[in-house]
Amino acid sequence: MTDKILRMDRHELLNLIKNPPDNLFEEARKVRDAHYGKKIFVRGLIEFTNYCKNDCFYCGIRRSNKNAQRYRLTKEEILSCCETGYRLGFHTFVLQGGEDPYYNDDLMCEIIYEIKSRYPDCAVTISFGEKSRDTYKRYKEAGADRYLLRHETANPAHYGMLHPKELSLKNRKKCLYDLKELGFQVGAGFMVGSPYQTDEHIVDDLLFLTELNPHMVGIGPFIPHKDTPFRDFPEGTLQKTLTLLAIIRIMLPKVLLPSTTALGTIHPKGREMGFQAGANVVMPNLSPVGVRKAYSLYDGKICTGEEAAECAACLKRRIESSGHVMDFSRGDSLVE
Ligand code: 5AD
Ligand code: FES
Repeated sequence: MTDKILRMDRHELLNLIKNPPDNLFEEARKVRDAHYGKKIFVRGLIEFTNYCKNDCFYCGIRRSNKNAQRYRLTKEEILSCCETGYRLGFHTFVLQGGEDPYYNDDLMCEIIYEIKSRYPDCAVTISFGEKSRDTYKRYKEAGADRYLLRHETANPAHYGMLHPKELSLKNRKKCLYDLKELGFQVGAGFMVGSPYQTDEHIVDDLLFLTELNPHMVGIGPFIPHKDTPFRDFPEGTLQKTLTLLAIIRIMLPKVLLPSTTALGTIHPKGREMGFQAGANVVMPNLSPVGVRKAYSLYDGKICTGEEAAECAACLKRRIESSGHVMDFSRGDSLVE
Protein backbone atom coordinates (compact mmCIF):
# COMPACT_ATOMS: atom_id res chain seq x y z
CA MET A 1 0.00 0.00 0.00
CA THR A 2 2.80 2.46 0.82
CA ASP A 3 4.32 2.22 -2.67
CA LYS A 4 0.91 2.77 -4.17
CA ILE A 5 0.34 5.94 -2.09
CA LEU A 6 3.76 7.30 -3.13
CA ARG A 7 2.75 7.07 -6.79
CA MET A 8 -0.75 8.55 -6.47
CA ASP A 9 -1.93 11.38 -8.68
CA ARG A 10 -4.29 14.17 -7.63
CA HIS A 11 -7.44 12.18 -8.30
CA GLU A 12 -6.24 9.12 -6.39
CA LEU A 13 -5.10 11.22 -3.42
CA LEU A 14 -8.53 12.81 -3.25
CA ASN A 15 -10.09 9.38 -3.13
CA LEU A 16 -7.60 8.28 -0.44
CA ILE A 17 -8.57 11.25 1.78
CA LYS A 18 -12.28 10.58 1.28
CA ASN A 19 -12.07 6.79 1.74
CA PRO A 20 -8.97 5.87 3.77
CA PRO A 21 -8.29 2.11 3.93
CA ASP A 22 -8.79 0.30 7.26
CA ASN A 23 -5.10 -0.51 7.67
CA LEU A 24 -3.83 3.03 6.99
CA PHE A 25 -2.61 3.68 10.56
CA GLU A 26 -0.92 0.30 10.75
CA GLU A 27 0.97 1.02 7.52
CA ALA A 28 1.93 4.48 8.78
CA ARG A 29 3.28 2.97 12.02
CA LYS A 30 5.32 0.45 10.02
CA VAL A 31 6.90 3.25 7.99
CA ARG A 32 7.71 5.32 11.10
CA ASP A 33 9.05 2.30 13.01
CA ALA A 34 11.33 1.37 10.10
CA HIS A 35 13.11 4.73 10.37
CA TYR A 36 12.65 5.95 13.94
CA GLY A 37 11.43 2.94 15.92
CA LYS A 38 9.03 3.62 18.79
CA LYS A 39 10.85 6.81 19.82
CA ILE A 40 8.83 9.93 20.51
CA PHE A 41 11.09 13.01 20.48
CA VAL A 42 10.48 15.80 22.99
CA ARG A 43 10.93 19.51 22.23
CA GLY A 44 10.60 22.22 24.85
CA LEU A 45 8.32 24.98 23.55
CA ILE A 46 8.92 28.54 24.75
CA GLU A 47 6.17 30.95 23.69
CA PHE A 48 8.22 34.11 24.09
CA THR A 49 5.82 36.83 22.85
CA ASN A 50 2.16 37.03 21.94
CA TYR A 51 2.41 40.46 20.32
CA CYS A 52 1.79 40.07 16.60
CA LYS A 53 1.75 42.56 13.75
CA ASN A 54 -0.31 40.18 11.63
CA ASP A 55 -4.05 39.72 11.61
CA CYS A 56 -4.68 36.13 10.47
CA PHE A 57 -8.40 35.46 10.70
CA TYR A 58 -8.03 32.18 12.62
CA CYS A 59 -5.51 33.23 15.25
CA GLY A 60 -6.28 34.35 18.79
CA ILE A 61 -3.18 36.54 19.08
CA ARG A 62 -3.96 38.52 15.90
CA ARG A 63 -3.29 42.23 16.32
CA SER A 64 -7.00 43.17 16.19
CA ASN A 65 -7.80 41.08 19.25
CA LYS A 66 -8.03 43.76 21.89
CA ASN A 67 -8.93 41.16 24.54
CA ALA A 68 -5.55 39.43 24.35
CA GLN A 69 -3.33 40.10 27.38
CA ARG A 70 -0.04 40.85 25.70
CA TYR A 71 3.32 39.79 27.13
CA ARG A 72 6.97 39.54 26.17
CA LEU A 73 9.63 37.41 27.83
CA THR A 74 13.03 38.95 28.49
CA LYS A 75 16.21 37.26 27.36
CA GLU A 76 16.78 36.21 30.97
CA GLU A 77 13.29 34.72 31.24
CA ILE A 78 13.82 32.78 28.01
CA LEU A 79 17.15 31.48 29.30
CA SER A 80 15.55 30.42 32.53
CA CYS A 81 12.94 28.40 30.56
CA CYS A 82 15.84 26.69 28.78
CA GLU A 83 17.46 25.90 32.12
CA THR A 84 14.25 24.28 33.33
CA GLY A 85 14.03 22.29 30.10
CA TYR A 86 17.65 21.21 30.25
CA ARG A 87 17.19 19.97 33.82
CA LEU A 88 14.24 17.92 32.60
CA GLY A 89 16.54 16.40 29.98
CA PHE A 90 15.35 18.23 26.85
CA HIS A 91 17.82 18.79 24.00
CA THR A 92 15.69 20.95 21.71
CA PHE A 93 14.29 24.38 22.51
CA VAL A 94 11.63 25.87 20.26
CA LEU A 95 11.30 29.64 20.44
CA GLN A 96 7.85 30.48 19.13
CA GLY A 97 6.27 33.90 18.97
CA GLY A 98 3.87 36.16 17.17
CA GLU A 99 5.50 38.45 14.61
CA ASP A 100 6.71 40.98 17.16
CA PRO A 101 9.15 43.60 15.82
CA TYR A 102 10.38 44.30 19.38
CA TYR A 103 12.65 41.26 18.90
CA ASN A 104 14.84 42.76 16.19
CA ASP A 105 17.63 40.81 14.53
CA ASP A 106 20.24 41.88 17.08
CA LEU A 107 18.14 40.78 20.04
CA MET A 108 17.07 37.49 18.43
CA CYS A 109 20.65 36.67 17.51
CA GLU A 110 21.84 37.49 21.03
CA ILE A 111 19.23 35.14 22.47
CA ILE A 112 20.03 32.33 20.02
CA TYR A 113 23.77 32.76 20.54
CA GLU A 114 23.44 32.70 24.32
CA ILE A 115 21.30 29.54 24.32
CA LYS A 116 23.78 27.78 22.04
CA SER A 117 26.73 28.89 24.19
CA ARG A 118 25.14 27.60 27.38
CA TYR A 119 23.73 24.41 25.83
CA PRO A 120 25.97 23.50 22.87
CA ASP A 121 24.54 19.97 22.84
CA CYS A 122 21.02 21.29 22.17
CA ALA A 123 19.20 22.23 18.99
CA VAL A 124 17.51 25.63 18.74
CA THR A 125 14.35 25.89 16.66
CA ILE A 126 12.84 29.24 15.75
CA SER A 127 9.16 29.73 14.92
CA PHE A 128 8.83 33.45 14.41
CA GLY A 129 7.07 33.95 11.11
CA GLU A 130 8.04 35.51 7.81
CA LYS A 131 11.40 37.31 7.68
CA SER A 132 13.81 38.37 4.96
CA ARG A 133 16.42 35.92 3.72
CA ASP A 134 19.02 38.14 5.34
CA THR A 135 17.37 37.88 8.76
CA TYR A 136 17.09 34.10 8.46
CA LYS A 137 20.78 34.04 7.53
CA ARG A 138 21.64 35.99 10.67
CA TYR A 139 19.61 33.58 12.82
CA LYS A 140 21.51 30.71 11.23
CA GLU A 141 24.88 32.33 11.83
CA ALA A 142 23.89 32.95 15.46
CA GLY A 143 23.41 29.19 15.82
CA ALA A 144 19.76 28.40 15.03
CA ASP A 145 19.36 24.87 13.68
CA ARG A 146 15.70 24.59 12.67
CA TYR A 147 12.77 26.77 11.65
CA LEU A 148 9.04 26.10 11.82
CA LEU A 149 6.80 28.03 9.45
CA ARG A 150 3.53 26.34 8.55
CA HIS A 151 2.44 27.11 5.00
CA GLU A 152 -1.19 27.02 6.35
CA THR A 153 -2.68 26.08 2.95
CA ALA A 154 -0.99 25.49 -0.41
CA ASN A 155 -3.97 26.80 -2.36
CA PRO A 156 -3.58 30.53 -3.16
CA ALA A 157 -7.33 31.28 -3.14
CA HIS A 158 -7.78 29.47 0.18
CA TYR A 159 -4.73 31.29 1.56
CA GLY A 160 -6.53 34.54 0.79
CA MET A 161 -9.60 33.41 2.75
CA LEU A 162 -7.55 32.79 5.89
CA HIS A 163 -5.30 35.85 5.81
CA PRO A 164 -5.48 39.59 5.30
CA LYS A 165 -4.36 40.85 1.90
CA GLU A 166 -0.85 41.84 3.06
CA LEU A 167 0.02 38.15 3.38
CA SER A 168 0.54 35.87 0.42
CA LEU A 169 1.20 32.21 -0.20
CA LYS A 170 3.91 33.28 -2.62
CA ASN A 171 5.94 34.97 0.10
CA ARG A 172 5.27 32.15 2.56
CA LYS A 173 6.71 29.65 0.06
CA LYS A 174 9.68 31.92 -0.66
CA CYS A 175 10.47 31.98 3.07
CA LEU A 176 10.34 28.17 3.24
CA TYR A 177 12.67 27.78 0.25
CA ASP A 178 15.05 30.45 1.62
CA LEU A 179 15.20 28.63 4.95
CA LYS A 180 15.95 25.32 3.27
CA GLU A 181 18.62 26.83 1.12
CA LEU A 182 20.28 28.43 4.16
CA GLY A 183 20.62 24.97 5.69
CA PHE A 184 17.87 25.02 8.31
CA GLN A 185 15.93 21.87 9.09
CA VAL A 186 12.54 23.20 8.03
CA GLY A 187 9.02 22.49 9.19
CA ALA A 188 5.92 23.32 7.12
CA GLY A 189 2.33 22.34 7.84
CA PHE A 190 -1.32 23.30 7.94
CA MET A 191 -4.52 23.18 9.97
CA VAL A 192 -7.03 20.42 9.32
CA GLY A 193 -10.59 21.65 8.91
CA SER A 194 -9.73 25.33 8.65
CA PRO A 195 -12.64 27.47 7.40
CA TYR A 196 -13.44 26.96 3.68
CA GLN A 197 -10.92 24.09 3.38
CA THR A 198 -11.93 21.42 0.86
CA ASP A 199 -10.42 18.00 0.22
CA GLU A 200 -9.04 19.44 -3.04
CA HIS A 201 -7.13 22.03 -0.98
CA ILE A 202 -5.72 19.23 1.16
CA VAL A 203 -4.49 17.47 -1.98
CA ASP A 204 -2.68 20.74 -2.84
CA ASP A 205 -1.11 20.62 0.63
CA LEU A 206 0.07 17.04 0.16
CA LEU A 207 1.53 17.77 -3.28
CA PHE A 208 3.24 20.92 -1.99
CA LEU A 209 4.75 18.94 0.88
CA THR A 210 6.19 16.33 -1.47
CA GLU A 211 7.67 19.13 -3.57
CA LEU A 212 9.18 21.04 -0.61
CA ASN A 213 10.29 17.84 1.13
CA PRO A 214 10.53 19.46 4.58
CA HIS A 215 12.27 17.89 7.58
CA MET A 216 9.18 18.33 9.75
CA VAL A 217 5.44 18.74 9.18
CA GLY A 218 3.16 20.25 11.80
CA ILE A 219 -0.54 19.57 11.41
CA GLY A 220 -3.37 19.87 13.88
CA PRO A 221 -7.09 20.54 13.84
CA PHE A 222 -8.37 24.09 13.43
CA ILE A 223 -10.03 25.16 16.68
CA PRO A 224 -12.10 28.35 16.76
CA HIS A 225 -11.09 31.24 19.02
CA LYS A 226 -13.92 33.35 20.42
CA ASP A 227 -12.22 36.69 19.66
CA THR A 228 -11.57 36.04 15.96
CA PRO A 229 -13.68 36.36 12.79
CA PHE A 230 -13.73 32.54 12.64
CA ARG A 231 -15.37 32.12 16.06
CA ASP A 232 -18.44 30.36 14.63
CA PHE A 233 -16.71 27.84 12.39
CA PRO A 234 -16.58 24.20 13.53
CA GLU A 235 -13.32 22.67 14.71
CA GLY A 236 -11.41 20.18 12.56
CA THR A 237 -12.18 16.54 13.28
CA LEU A 238 -10.06 13.97 15.08
CA GLN A 239 -10.55 11.39 12.34
CA LYS A 240 -9.46 13.64 9.52
CA THR A 241 -6.40 14.85 11.44
CA LEU A 242 -5.32 11.27 12.18
CA THR A 243 -5.91 10.20 8.58
CA LEU A 244 -3.73 13.05 7.34
CA LEU A 245 -0.97 12.34 9.86
CA ALA A 246 -0.87 8.76 8.54
CA ILE A 247 -0.91 9.80 4.88
CA ILE A 248 1.90 12.33 5.45
CA ARG A 249 3.94 9.70 7.32
CA ILE A 250 3.63 7.37 4.32
CA MET A 251 4.31 10.06 1.71
CA LEU A 252 7.31 11.52 3.61
CA PRO A 253 8.65 8.45 5.45
CA LYS A 254 11.52 10.15 7.30
CA VAL A 255 9.69 13.32 8.29
CA LEU A 256 9.39 14.37 11.94
CA LEU A 257 5.71 14.59 12.73
CA PRO A 258 4.40 16.13 15.95
CA SER A 259 1.29 14.97 17.70
CA THR A 260 0.15 18.51 18.43
CA THR A 261 -1.33 20.27 21.42
CA ALA A 262 -4.34 21.14 19.26
CA LEU A 263 -4.92 17.41 18.69
CA GLY A 264 -4.71 16.88 22.46
CA THR A 265 -7.19 19.70 22.91
CA ILE A 266 -10.00 18.26 20.76
CA HIS A 267 -9.77 14.80 22.38
CA PRO A 268 -8.32 13.72 25.76
CA LYS A 269 -6.39 10.89 24.06
CA GLY A 270 -5.71 12.86 20.87
CA ARG A 271 -1.93 12.87 21.14
CA GLU A 272 -1.77 9.14 21.90
CA MET A 273 -3.92 8.50 18.84
CA GLY A 274 -1.53 10.71 16.88
CA PHE A 275 1.35 8.35 17.78
CA GLN A 276 -0.76 5.40 16.61
CA ALA A 277 -1.19 7.21 13.28
CA GLY A 278 2.57 7.67 12.77
CA ALA A 279 3.46 10.86 14.67
CA ASN A 280 6.78 10.88 16.58
CA VAL A 281 7.27 14.27 18.24
CA VAL A 282 5.69 16.11 21.17
CA MET A 283 6.30 19.69 22.21
CA PRO A 284 5.63 20.19 25.91
CA ASN A 285 5.34 23.77 27.06
CA LEU A 286 8.26 25.38 28.90
CA SER A 287 6.72 28.86 29.02
CA PRO A 288 6.32 30.37 32.50
CA VAL A 289 2.92 29.25 33.86
CA GLY A 290 1.99 32.91 34.43
CA VAL A 291 1.88 33.68 30.69
CA ARG A 292 0.58 30.39 29.30
CA LYS A 293 -3.09 31.27 29.18
CA ALA A 294 -2.22 34.45 27.27
CA TYR A 295 -0.62 32.50 24.39
CA SER A 296 -4.06 31.60 23.22
CA LEU A 297 -4.13 30.77 19.52
CA TYR A 298 -7.42 28.87 19.96
CA ASP A 299 -9.93 28.24 22.76
CA GLY A 300 -9.58 25.45 25.31
CA LYS A 301 -5.83 24.90 24.87
CA ILE A 302 -4.56 22.21 27.24
CA CYS A 303 -1.50 22.36 29.54
CA THR A 304 -1.94 26.04 30.41
CA GLY A 305 -2.04 25.45 34.19
CA GLU A 306 0.70 22.84 34.57
CA GLU A 307 4.36 23.38 35.41
CA ALA A 308 6.88 22.16 32.83
CA ALA A 309 7.81 19.17 34.99
CA GLU A 310 4.15 18.16 35.30
CA CYS A 311 3.68 18.28 31.52
CA ALA A 312 6.84 16.25 31.01
CA ALA A 313 5.70 13.61 33.49
CA CYS A 314 2.19 13.53 32.01
CA LEU A 315 3.57 13.10 28.51
CA LYS A 316 5.92 10.35 29.61
CA ARG A 317 2.93 8.41 30.96
CA ARG A 318 0.97 8.97 27.77
CA ILE A 319 3.89 7.96 25.56
CA GLU A 320 4.62 4.79 27.52
CA SER A 321 1.00 3.75 27.95
CA SER A 322 0.60 3.89 24.17
CA GLY A 323 3.59 1.57 23.66
CA HIS A 324 6.24 4.15 22.77
CA VAL A 325 9.40 5.49 24.43
CA MET A 326 10.13 9.10 25.28
CA ASP A 327 13.41 10.15 23.65
CA PHE A 328 15.43 13.03 25.05
CA SER A 329 18.09 13.30 22.33
CA ARG A 330 18.26 16.20 19.84
CA GLY A 331 16.26 14.03 17.48
CA ASP A 332 17.49 15.45 14.19
CA SER A 333 15.42 14.69 11.12
CA LEU A 334 16.54 11.82 8.91
CA VAL A 335 15.39 13.80 5.86
CA GLU A 336 18.52 14.87 3.95
N1 5AD B 1 -6.61 26.55 15.61
C1 5AD B 1 -5.60 25.67 15.39
N2 5AD B 1 -4.36 26.04 15.09
C2 5AD B 1 -4.09 27.36 15.00
N3 5AD B 1 -2.96 28.02 14.70
C3 5AD B 1 -3.20 29.34 14.75
N4 5AD B 1 -4.49 29.56 15.08
C4 5AD B 1 -5.07 28.33 15.24
C5 5AD B 1 -6.38 27.88 15.55
N5 5AD B 1 -7.37 28.74 15.76
C6 5AD B 1 -1.74 27.35 14.26
C7 5AD B 1 -1.27 27.91 12.92
C8 5AD B 1 0.11 28.45 13.24
C9 5AD B 1 0.50 27.69 14.47
C10 5AD B 1 1.53 28.34 15.32
O1 5AD B 1 -0.70 27.55 15.20
O2 5AD B 1 -1.20 26.85 11.97
O3 5AD B 1 1.04 28.26 12.20
FE1 FES C 1 -0.01 36.32 14.20
FE2 FES C 1 -1.68 34.65 13.23
S1 FES C 1 -2.11 36.67 13.85
S2 FES C 1 0.44 34.38 13.34
